[in-house]
Amino acid sequence: MNAEEITARVKQLKAEKGAIILAHYYTRPEVQDVADLLGDSLGLSRAAGETDARVIVFCGVHFMAETASIISPEKKVLIPALNAGCSLAESIAGEDVERWREKNPDGIVVCYVNATAEVKAHADYCCTSSNAVKVVNSLPAGRKILFVPDKNLGAYINKVTGRDMELWNGDCCVHERIPASLLLQRLEEFPDAEALVHPESNGSHDDRVLAHPRVFISSTAGMIARAGESAAGRFIVATELETIHQLKKKYPDKQFVPAHPTTRCGQMKKITLERVLAALEEEKYEVKVPDNLREKAWTPIRRMLEIK
Ligand code: 13P
Ligand code: SF4
Repeated sequence: MNAEEITARVKQLKAEKGAIILAHYYTRPEVQDVADLLGDSLGLSRAAGETDARVIVFCGVHFMAETASIISPEKKVLIPALNAGCSLAESIAGEDVERWREKNPDGIVVCYVNATAEVKAHADYCCTSSNAVKVVNSLPAGRKILFVPDKNLGAYINKVTGRDMELWNGDCCVHERIPASLLLQRLEEFPDAEALVHPESNGSHDDRVLAHPRVFISSTAGMIARAGESAAGRFIVATELETIHQLKKKYPDKQFVPAHPTTRCGQMKKITLERVLAALEEEKYEVKVPDNLREKAWTPIRRMLEIK
């Protein structure tokens, strides 16, 4: 079957099975194009909670499908590639959180959504890159905060909120390749451009970057919205490069320059059109979080979703 035939069959099966396809902006362009809804982590989490579809085909990495299953336990959540992982989610276990709690009994644990259900079950609050500042600002003053697992997003939030935070030493192996020196060099190379920077980037919390008048730091969805709102005609894109597929589609008259030439997430690319079709045909691979774990992991996610 060619790509057109696969797409047509996917659409047919979707209707027959009452399925919805949710896809992250980092998936392959042909997967994005077949999705019912595209989003960043927060947008997709909300969509998983709001849909009345029987089946959710989650085109993203494993922790995202797990989050969808925690939010919508009555739905059948499928991931087209069971081994689509994430360097952040793999950097920490629940017992690491508990060790910190023993030393900081009054501390609050904020967990970036890029973590396993097992780690979320040990956290007080979840957050995504869209709402992390809001979540941390909502916490009672004077309490120490452990932020897991992303040291870069954590350092960025720490700078913006000024809160007393300890950071877990995890990173996104994709955004870690974007240091401040590269961002500053690109801004000099393109004096007319604005830089759209994901806070997972290594350079997002550098003082020179934070103070730069042509830098906009945000989650993936925020970056895409900013490209429409800004008067600039050219943007340096400091995130996963598939984001440029949507940026070009939405704003064909603007120009988008990668900050780094190879910031692609190999885990997201495991979701191919062929695998999306197989997922729908065979209703595989189901991601289901056991009830006892789900209940514990739901509390920090629910608290996050309640913060508007
Ligand atoms: P957002 O979807 O919150 O922008 O996070 C980016 C990311 O790396 C997801 O894996
Ligand atoms: Fe994980 Fe980074 Fe890939 Fe997102 S881009 S799934 S944080 S490795």
